[in-house]
Amino acid sequence: MEERVQKFISQAGVASRRKAEEFIKSGQVLINGRKAKLGDKVNPSTDIVKVYGKTVKPNQQLVYIMINKPKGYVVSKSDPQHRKTVFELLPEDLRTKVWNVGRLDADTEGLLILTNDGELTQELSHPKYEHEKEYEVSLQESPSESQLEQLRSGVEIATGTTYPAQVKQRDGKVRITIHEGKKRQVRRMFTTVGLTITNLKRIRINKLLLPKELPAGQFKLISKEEIL
Ligand code: URA
Repeated sequence: MEERVQKFISQAGVASRRKAEEFIKSGQVLINGRKAKLGDKVNPSTDIVKVYGKTVKPNQQLVYIMINKPKGYVVSKSDPQHRKTVFELLPEDLRTKVWNVGRLDADTEGLLILTNDGELTQELSHPKYEHEKEYEVSLQESPSESQLEQLRSGVEIATGTTYPAQVKQRDGKVRITIHEGKKRQVRRMFTTVGLTITNLKRIRINKLLLPKELPAGQFKLISKEEIL
């Protein structure tokens, strides 16, 4: 059956759908020796697709990893400032295979998903699917009910007003669930309402909870069904 070339590349575990589209736009994808255009269709059993000169093999084994990112590590394959990266926490055979779904700041800890499933990456990253992300926030001061209410109803940050969020207090910390993923969103929301974060930890993405017994720096192979 024919499918769009960017979908074929991402399902084969080569890159996320967005990255696959970038490869096509920059002329790095060939279909049977001819430069591919966005939206071109391929038949995986008869067409030869090459990305950067390498033939794409369909149905490469897809892997899903949850990692408890420690503070101080960056979510990037390499860092110009030579900080440690989350990929250094994986054995070599996995490190070269997967990429991160979304990001956490260097000073944030907690749940991060790594995979080579381009379709899942697309689904979890696209705002239209509104997947929940829950964070546990430690604060320097006790929040007032009005500050919590502002966080719930939406806060004006540089990139626009945030959507309504679920906010509750538990064990002296604040739990906030958001559906978007603007840059440094949680930190900017709390700063805007006048609260100082001392620790930020992501504890859930959609159905997937960070297990209490998974120490910082450790990872676990999981299935796609545990996330969606
Ligand atoms: N919001 C932030 O401010 N930082 C993160 O790392 C994730 C969400």
